[in-house]
Amino acid sequence: MNLFDKYNTAAPRYTSYPTVPYWDETTFSTAVALERLQQQLETENSISLYIHLPFCERLCTFCGCHKYITKRHEVEQPYIEALLKEWHLYLELLPAKPVLKELHLGGGTPTFFSPLSLEHLLTEITSSVEVDATAELGFEGHPHSTSAQHLRALRRFGFTRVSFGVQDYNPHIQQAINRQQTFNEVAKVSFMARELGYKSVSHDLVYGLPFQCENDIIDSIEKTTILRPDRISLYSYAHVPWVKGTGQRGFKTSDLPEGAQKRKLYEIARELLLENDYVEIGMDHFALRTDDLFHDSVTGQLHRNFMGYTTAKAAVQLGLGVSAIGNSKAAFMQNTKDLKTYYKLLESNTLPVVKGHLLSSEDLCIQQHILNLMCQLQTTWTDELFRYIDFQTLKSSLRTFVADGLLELTETGMQVLEAGRPFLRNICMAFDLRLQRKWPDTKLFSSAV
Ligand SMILES: C[S@@+](CC[C@H](N)C(=O)[O-])C[C@H]1O[C@@H](n2cnc3c(N)ncnc32)[C@H](O)[C@@H]1O
Ligand code: SF4
Repeated sequence: MNLFDKYNTAAPRYTSYPTVPYWDETTFSTAVALERLQQQLETENSISLYIHLPFCERLCTFCGCHKYITKRHEVEQPYIEALLKEWHLYLELLPAKPVLKELHLGGGTPTFFSPLSLEHLLTEITSSVEVDATAELGFEGHPHSTSAQHLRALRRFGFTRVSFGVQDYNPHIQQAINRQQTFNEVAKVSFMARELGYKSVSHDLVYGLPFQCENDIIDSIEKTTILRPDRISLYSYAHVPWVKGTGQRGFKTSDLPEGAQKRKLYEIARELLLENDYVEIGMDHFALRTDDLFHDSVTGQLHRNFMGYTTAKAAVQLGLGVSAIGNSKAAFMQNTKDLKTYYKLLESNTLPVVKGHLLSSEDLCIQQHILNLMCQLQTTWTDELFRYIDFQTLKSSLRTFVADGLLELTETGMQVLEAGRPFLRNICMAFDLRLQRKWPDTKLFSSAV
């Protein structure tokens, strides 16, 4: 059997360990999570901030992000005020004025908000922290709604990174995913960003979209290489129609390329990108050698979190806004996804955290090995690891990958081979003790391929 069909099982994307469906609600307490956060900040007073801006004007029917579709821009002001209230609740808890090392505006569509609304939010935030001289500030921009005013306003606050959602350039696919945008629109906004001093312009592409075939991916990649973004995220289409609010519709499951056929699209894209001097980073990411992501990948500083691959900047990540996730090394906290509940909790001066996980020593150990694999494609055996996983059991679950030529085991550790890169998610599952203790009885994760 073809390896892509063999390993095409449901698998986590490992943007966290434990993965969200395996967080232990029974032992979680927001108070303890906040205590851990405070302790962490006492050791090192720097933060990374993620702000979720959930509105979009139009539903793209492939989208798996947490968003609300509306054309009513009156929603902007109350949402920004709620974000600021949440921010001030955190500030009261922090031991000292924090140093901001990283700020990311994600969504939904951050550029749904007017430049004025974003300026109001950012003025308040940046005036209550010390912005580190090396801080990295970035946002996700929809090519349709990102104006020169947006780019200028954010640049004034020190933003130098932007990622634009491109997905695919072919009209028949754009029609299936309800997202029409031309090459010229993407080119215009990308040039504008460069001219205004953004040093890292990234494009998001997706493979495995409905009706997408080999010629479509060739066309999209060729167009992309003309614009030469510094980074490219080439996401595997995650078909998760069971997740509430995704709105994945307008096409049938049978319209989706699957297994080996889907992976072929990635391989074609990969070849073309490598020919054009891009380097493959971790899983599904590419960068030019001049981009920090490449630098981080060779110096071992690459990190993976809910935003994908980043540089490990601060040990504490605060998440503001609906569905946002915070991470203080030993605790995860997630906000409510429901807008009404978000407003209600903040009205009563309560942080909108509704779920989370307190990491045990075992979790922290497994997390490190999974991060090593996802970021560096290798990990080193430690005595601590074998306190939690029996070596023989681990070896026997990895045996199938060894036999298929996907990884090598050595005396001191393991190395995922180039052929194993597409199966990183499957390989990490051999370390995922929480998953192994309780295999899901319903579908929780998208397919590995
Ligand atoms: C929040 S959106 C980007 C910003 C803006 N909303 C836009 O669409 O241009 C983040 C990215 O997630 C990716 N994405 C969304 N849904 C996905 C899915 N089901 N499978 C894979 N990637 C997906 C898309 O590439 C998208 O550009
Ligand atoms: S892809 Fe972007 S614009 Fe489209 S629905 Fe998702 S978050 Fe909104």
